Amino acid sequence: MYDEPGFLSRTDAEYAALTLETFVYCSLAAEGVDDAEVDRIIEFSQRRNVARGITGVLVFGSGVFFQWIEGPPVEVKDLIASLHGDSRHCDIVALDQSVEKRERLYPGWEMERVAAEDIREVLEDALESAEDQKNVAALNRILEHLKSAPLDALGRS
Ligand SMILES: Cc1cc2nc3c(=O)[nH]c(=O)nc-3n(C[C@H](O)[C@H](O)[C@H](O)COP(=O)(O)O)c2cc1C
Repeated sequence: MYDEPGFLSRTDAEYAALTLETFVYCSLAAEGVDDAEVDRIIEFSQRRNVARGITGVLVFGSGVFFQWIEGPPVEVKDLIASLHGDSRHCDIVALDQSVEKRERLYPGWEMERVAAEDIREVLEDALESAEDQKNVAALNRILEHLKSAPLDALGRS
């Protein structure tokens, strides 16, 4: 039988394993959010993201967040909803959101904190080693964004 359930679910699982949602945004930290609070966010995120198969990078500088999130679409959408309800930041500006079959850009980082002055370098390094053309395109878009406001402020803390 062509529609045998086991065959279909295995195909779906294989597809899901290759499909990643990426969400890249910047936001404004709420009053009172300092380095110690950002460390707490990172600590919580690393534990939670391992369980959800989410990886990425979080940058904090001059009161601005920049975050790259990649993982299974269902999990990433759930996290985006949580981020929108989190009072520790506001003015979330989506810079890139896509669902594609591609390789992870940060496979070993459950959510790495990166210093603001290093973000360009982190993205350029990723661009150098990126073989997936979709990743190359997304990274070029982000680097382009970094040349203009509001992310300009990230380098000046
Ligand atoms: C800038 C910022 C980045 C965050 N990054 C993550 C993250 O990568 N993973 C995560 O689980 N929570 C992250 N959080 C926390 C979420 O907003 C939320 O508090 C947490 O996921 C719990 O959500 P829930 O109560 O809806 O389960 C972040 C919060 C902020 C302010």
